[in-house]
Amino acid sequence: MKPVSALYPGSFDPPTNGHLDLIERGAKIFEELVVGILRNTEKSPMFSLAERLEMLKTLTAHLKNVRIEAFHGLMVEYAKSIDATCVLRGIRAVSDYEYELQMALMNRKLEPTLETVFMMPADKYSYVSSRLVREVAQAGGPVKGLVPEVVEQKLREKLEPAYRFHDEMQEGRVPGAKTCAKPISYAPPYPQFAPCPCGYHCG
Ligand code: PNS
Repeated sequence: MKPVSALYPGSFDPPTNGHLDLIERGAKIFEELVVGILRNTEKSPMFSLAERLEMLKTLTAHLKNVRIEAFHGLMVEYAKSIDATCVLRGIRAVSDYEYELQMALMNRKLEPTLETVFMMPADKYSYVSSRLVREVAQAGGPVKGLVPEVVEQKLREKLEPAYRFHDEMQEGRVPGAKTCAKPISYAPPYPQFAPCPCGYHCG
């Protein structure tokens, strides 16, 4: 059997513990694993490409057969350019399957020699996604245990006003916070809070 080089493509905005779990699993079975961060010009990511590259490089520094790179355009073409013969993707729950199957079959149509391999992250991460992490963090909520510490720190730095507001609310330091029965409404992107409809929290 030939040693297999694999590509693990994704947005990683931000990298989660689920991503890291999958990278560690992949690193054990593939000769080489390239984590390819999509440079997506349409979406406006929370973390710049440079930030995601830096975070993933730090998080995988202990894995000698893992390389972090960025790519744009068709994933299959990038895979070919780095001599990857396998694509690694994670499946957390049945809900992931339909999208992943569609993508794998489209990629097979585009490049029949490229095989997609699915792996499952640890079940404790089965509900963790970058989108939900962003949502929780944008509301100043705790993401400990969902993302590595360096990512948690970066989220805190980026969303400092949201975390400060959340902490002040928790500590009852926001005037009227305890007396308002209505849910607080504030909308990302921070630091601009939309005015709260209750009239207490945000003025
Ligand atoms: O982490 P994500 O956002 O689920 O990753 C999706 C990703 C980057 C793997 C996918 O969007 C992709 O491969 N994009 C590159 C463009 C491409 O090749 N599209 C055809 C996919 S069938």
